[in-house]
Amino acid sequence: MSETATHTDPNAPIIAEFRAHNGRVGGMFEGVTLVLITTAGRHTGKPWTTPVVAARDGDRWLVFASNAGRPHNPHWYLNLVATPQVTMEIGTDEGRVKPFAARAVPLTGDERDTQWDLQCARNPAFRDYAAATTRTIPVIALHPLDLTGDPARARLIAEQLIRHHEDLRAEIDQVRTRFEHALAGEPDPGALDTADADDLAGRLRRHCLTLCRHLQLHHIREDGAFSAFEREYPELVPAIRRLRAEHAVVEKALAAFAALLERAAGPDRGPDAEPAHLRAEFEAVSAGLEEHFAYEEAHLLPALRG
Ligand SMILES: [Fe+2]
Ligand SMILES: [Fe+2]
Repeated sequence: MSETATHTDPNAPIIAEFRAHNGRVGGMFEGVTLVLITTAGRHTGKPWTTPVVAARDGDRWLVFASNAGRPHNPHWYLNLVATPQVTMEIGTDEGRVKPFAARAVPLTGDERDTQWDLQCARNPAFRDYAAATTRTIPVIALHPLDLTGDPARARLIAEQLIRHHEDLRAEIDQVRTRFEHALAGEPDPGALDTADADDLAGRLRRHCLTLCRHLQLHHIREDGAFSAFEREYPELVPAIRRLRAEHAVVEKALAAFAALLERAAGPDRGPDAEPAHLRAEFEAVSAGLEEHFAYEEAHLLPALRG
C-alpha cells in the first residue's frame, strides 16, 4: 500500500534498510546521518516518504533540499511548504526506528546561510550541489512535537485525529453505497461515463485507493503523534502499543484488498470480480477499521481529557 513499497520508488531499498537497522544505511550513506520524512503529497494527498540527510541542532533537526544539485526543488520540500506537518523517523536508543510528528519551518536570511555553511563544512558534497544549481538551496528546521506541560495542545491534536475518523467513515460509506447500487443492478450515480458503468471493480479500485491513502496518511500522522503522547502520558503506553500494532494489521488488510481489486479489475476476472465477494471482503476490512477507530476513541480521548 505504501508508495515506498513499490518497485518504482528508487528510495525503497534505502527506506527498508533504514527501518531494519535503526536508522543506519550502508553504501554511499555509510556514516551519514539520515532521517526519513513523510509529507502529504500537495496534489494527491498521498503520503510520500523520503530519506534525507539531516543534522541535529539542539531540539530540532535540520534538513537540506539540495536534490543533489538538480535545478528544481525536491517534491518533499514543495509538499512541506504546502503542509508543514510532517512525520520524521529517526533511529533511537531503544534500538529501533521511531516516528515523530514534527513541524517544518524553512529558515531564512542569515540563519539559513549560517546553517548551510555549517552543513557544507560537515559534508563537502553539499558545496558541489550548490555549485551545480542556481537555486538557493532551502534549509528547513523540523521541530518535533513536544507536549511537555501542554495538555491543551495534546487534547487538541487527539481531537483533530479523532475528527478525521468521521471523514474516513464517510468515505467508507460512499464505497458501501456503490456496492449496494451494483448488487441491486442499478447504475452507479458516481460513474464517470457510461463506458465504465459495468466496471465495478475498476471503479471501486479508484475509490478504494483514495480511501487507502487517506487512511495510510492518517496512521502515519498518528504514529508520529503517539510518540509525543507516550512521553507525556505513560499510562497510555499499553493502548498505544496496541494501536500501533493495529495500524500494521490494517495496512496489510488494505494491501490485500487493493490486490484483490487489482485482480478483479484486470482482464482475467474470474470469481474475484463478483460484487458480492468484493463486498464481503470490503465489509471485513471496514469492520476491522471500525473496531480500531472505536478503540482509539475510547482510549485516547478520555486519558488526554483527564
Ligand atoms: Fe489509528
Ligand atoms: Fe485514527
